[in-house]
Amino acid sequence: MVSYYTLDDVETEDKLVLMRSDLNTPVDKSGNLIEKVRLEEAAVSLRDLSDAMTVIISHQGRVGRPDFIELEKHAAILGQLLNREVKYVDDIIGPKAISEIKNLKRGEVLLLDNLRLLAEENLELSMEEAANTIFVKKLYSMFDLFVLDAFPTAHRSHPSIVGFPYYIPAIAGRLIVRELKGLTRITQFEKGPYTTILGGTKVGDRIEAMTALIKNGKADKVLSTGRLGLLFLIAAGKLSQQLSDEEARYLAAARYLLDEYPSVIEMPHDLAYMDADGQRKEAEVKSVPKGVKVLDIGEKTIKRYSRIIKGSGTVFMSGPPSAFEVKGFELGTEELLLSVAKSSATSIVSGGHLSTAMQRLKISNWIDHVSTAGGALIQYLSGKPLPLFEALEYSASRIKENQYQEKVIWRQQEI
Ligand code: 3PG
Repeated sequence: MVSYYTLDDVETEDKLVLMRSDLNTPVDKSGNLIEKVRLEEAAVSLRDLSDAMTVIISHQGRVGRPDFIELEKHAAILGQLLNREVKYVDDIIGPKAISEIKNLKRGEVLLLDNLRLLAEENLELSMEEAANTIFVKKLYSMFDLFVLDAFPTAHRSHPSIVGFPYYIPAIAGRLIVRELKGLTRITQFEKGPYTTILGGTKVGDRIEAMTALIKNGKADKVLSTGRLGLLFLIAAGKLSQQLSDEEARYLAAARYLLDEYPSVIEMPHDLAYMDADGQRKEAEVKSVPKGVKVLDIGEKTIKRYSRIIKGSGTVFMSGPPSAFEVKGFELGTEELLLSVAKSSATSIVSGGHLSTAMQRLKISNWIDHVSTAGGALIQYLSGKPLPLFEALEYSASRIKENQYQEKVIWRQQEI
């Protein structure tokens, strides 16, 4: 049980508040955000900070990847969601950012630029090391309070997560509370057999995730879909398709997992690809033509996977099984989501893509817990400690013992 303080406990009126959110969102080829689930979640805490001056910090993408972009578009969308201006500055610790922070007035919100522009933010550090970074030292003394709300980054021991609580009181934002409440409830109901459905494009993350879950007894079956499904088929010598250089790096790991856990990992029997006319075409794995764009699992695989879902006690689904944003290739994602929603299994669905698909199908209420996180959730489900929660607990004990220079003002309970 994590013990922490929240926005309900501490007075924020006229305080200068630093809030670590996770606004990291998939982007299209032109750098536009594909969905806004994490921004909607951040808006919940921001609405409750309307009596404060709030500075939001977040990362976006990974250095060197196409999704590593600045946060100007995020500020505009947050502004629309909040129905008020969200200021943006293309700076983090330089004079421009410092001056914007100092000039904030009550009720104003300012978003700083992508934190991963700072080399230090890309390092895994201890709390003391993080507290000693130039990034944290430049900013912390201006703020009265730190709100940690970046649940999807809870598994990263980055300066923006663990550094600030060393100096200023840290409390949990609304998203942390929602996720923890949901997950605590779930763990009371979870039961075997455990089925994990993994899809999407981040194969490295999925390989890591399934290894952790299998080793911790939380995956009796892994239904591979999306790029992960293709990776396993290629590793097993059943399919010959082009992998990206990055994906090819995981072939050895996929082969190892197939050897080690042959009865756990399920691979597609048939696939759907785009033909020369841009239409959906299905084929048995061995008959899929070389060089085509495989964008979905086939109908036979959907039926087989749905039967496994039906017989499960707990289902965890992360990453879409198909490229559901491409017309004609919604089937795998929609059908497997519907199978999860209809089953009597305890269900956890994670990630922005699947949240968007669920909103479209209007089945979000049928899932026991919808999480914004990927890697952090997997670390939580496999029972590993999360640096963000450790930082919150550290801060809670210091707040209790009045060990921060600025004392927190407790909120008066309204009855
Ligand atoms: C995520 O999307 O899982 C979080 O934003 C963390 O991103 P990262 O895996 O690049 O650290």
